[in-house]
Amino acid sequence: MKPQWLDRLAWAAALALPVAFASSGPPLGGAPSPGVVASAAQNGPRTVWDGVYTGEQAKRGEDAYKLSCGYCHRDDLAGGFFDDGTGRAPALAGVRAFDSSFSERWSGRSVGEMLTEIGSIMPLDAPGSLTLPVYTDIIAYLLSKNDAPAGPSELPPDIEALGQIRIGPKPAR
Ligand code: HEC
Repeated sequence: MKPQWLDRLAWAAALALPVAFASSGPPLGGAPSPGVVASAAQNGPRTVWDGVYTGEQAKRGEDAYKLSCGYCHRDDLAGGFFDDGTGRAPALAGVRAFDSSFSERWSGRSVGEMLTEIGSIMPLDAPGSLTLPVYTDIIAYLLSKNDAPAGPSELPPDIEALGQIRIGPKPAR
């Protein structure tokens, strides 16, 4: 059964989107000047490359992933065919993850959108069956496995806040 937060929050995230675009600085794909980067880090939108989850949270996410996702996507996130050969789950980390790469697949979207989308379709055999905090931890784990650095505070289990964190190409540092 579809949990209520998914319905309510899916469109909350959709509504938050134009606002985020209107108030944000340069598009993620661009190459903003150092001055712009500094001010964006202070009060502008954050990206998944800014250290938006903790190592401890990713570890919790790993446990939840192994329980609810690993039997299809594999514990090493490499993806593969189902045991009965009826389907194939895509890789969720590595250069060919999501049939492109993590940043290509979700580029221009927010973590909130990524979460509502994944929550709506996964686990494939029981979509929306996990709680929002558990999905959030799993997202932290997926970020950790796709090269995004950990930081001082956890990814909040709050779709609106997650809608403020953008996904884009890994910045050259
Ligand atoms: C029963 C097997 C199964 C389980 C369990 C499962 N998945 Fe999947 N997953 C799939 C398949 C198959 C696809 C490809 C679906 C498609 O292309 O329509 C997929 C696709 C995905 C995608 C790619 C979506 C996209 O649009 O790029 C993500 C992300 C994902 N799964 C995450 C998860 C997470 C997180 C979990 C655990 C909460 C999970 N999956 C559990 C089978 C599974």
